Amino acid sequence: MASPDFSHLYTTLAQQGQARPGLHRWLARLPEQLSRALSPQRHPEFHGWWQRIEQLPQLSTAEYDLNQDALYAGAGQTAAGPLSDAEKKRITGLLDNLHPWRKGPFLLHDTKIDTEWRSDWKWQRVAPHLSDLRGRLILDVGGGSGYHAWRMAGAGAALTLCIDPSPRYFAQFEAVKKLLGPQLCEQVYHLPLGIEDVPEQLEAFDSVFSMGVLYHRRSPIDHLLDLKACLRSGGELVLETLVVEGGAQQVLLPQDRYAAMRNVWFLPSVAALSLWLERAGFADVRCVDLNRTTTEEQRSTDWMRFQSLADFLDPEDPSRTREGYPAPLRAVMIARKP
Ligand SMILES: C[S@@+](CC[C@H](N)C(=O)[O-])C[C@H]1O[C@@H](n2cnc3c(N)ncnc32)[C@H](O)[C@@H]1O
Repeated sequence: MASPDFSHLYTTLAQQGQARPGLHRWLARLPEQLSRALSPQRHPEFHGWWQRIEQLPQLSTAEYDLNQDALYAGAGQTAAGPLSDAEKKRITGLLDNLHPWRKGPFLLHDTKIDTEWRSDWKWQRVAPHLSDLRGRLILDVGGGSGYHAWRMAGAGAALTLCIDPSPRYFAQFEAVKKLLGPQLCEQVYHLPLGIEDVPEQLEAFDSVFSMGVLYHRRSPIDHLLDLKACLRSGGELVLETLVVEGGAQQVLLPQDRYAAMRNVWFLPSVAALSLWLERAGFADVRCVDLNRTTTEEQRSTDWMRFQSLADFLDPEDPSRTREGYPAPLRAVMIARKP
């Protein structure tokens, strides 16, 4: 059975690596990393998802708009002509096979994927504070299905790499990419890898995003150092994470779960997080947004049919999680690598 073809990515990295040698070092390891990440031994379920993607129609052209809240593709043409209603219906079914869809939304040839998260709301909070993304090389660490990576491309980024070790997110990304049409094939890539797969001291990217990842890291300062190592000197870090209220020494470490999530470690105050970023060697550290997550932003939908935030809050007091911790509050921090 055919497997994902990363040859465009390798060509792009070979070209970009002429000015940014860290990318050549990564390129030397990538084929082995990617084949290990998607091997049937490691993720037996992936190959079923890949078959669904292969069954999506091969478009010769499509219209797309990466600046819409629901990422848009329409007017799809195949070699046999415009997509028929029957083909569009088939697309809906094939995409539904990749359930649960958590990050979006998308509107792809009349299929509206109403995801668990209104990821567009996060983008609206982040985007006004970013350096101009036009022409930049960007790494989105833990970028999920790539929704924000597409928005970065829509804002003019030259190349965006989204890394996320979840093979389901990789499959969702590839499905979206196929339906957006062939024009976009060299601008945005998803690599089913984790931050630990990025070679040390890459110093290649103009912007690095880490959104919704820091609280999943057991060693948060090491995560900040890893992100810094991916940036070129003068590059910009965009960090979005869960925080708590309080002063520079205030950090919450949940006893066990937090809002039903396993694997949640440190929730610092904004002041503590600023201190962490400064101790990690970042400059111009600032908090540009603070937002309490609502049950309108994160909720169950037809495309994410499991429990969601409303089920994870205390029904008597929604300002608390069901474990009794402060309900999710998220900060967006921006900082510069000197
Ligand atoms: C809460 S989601 C955030 C998704 C997206 N960035 C957003 O803000 O909506 C956290 C993501 O981190 C990914 N992740 C987990 N371990 C990781 C690792 N070691 N390196 C990179 N990403 C990781 C998960 O698969 C998940 O998609």
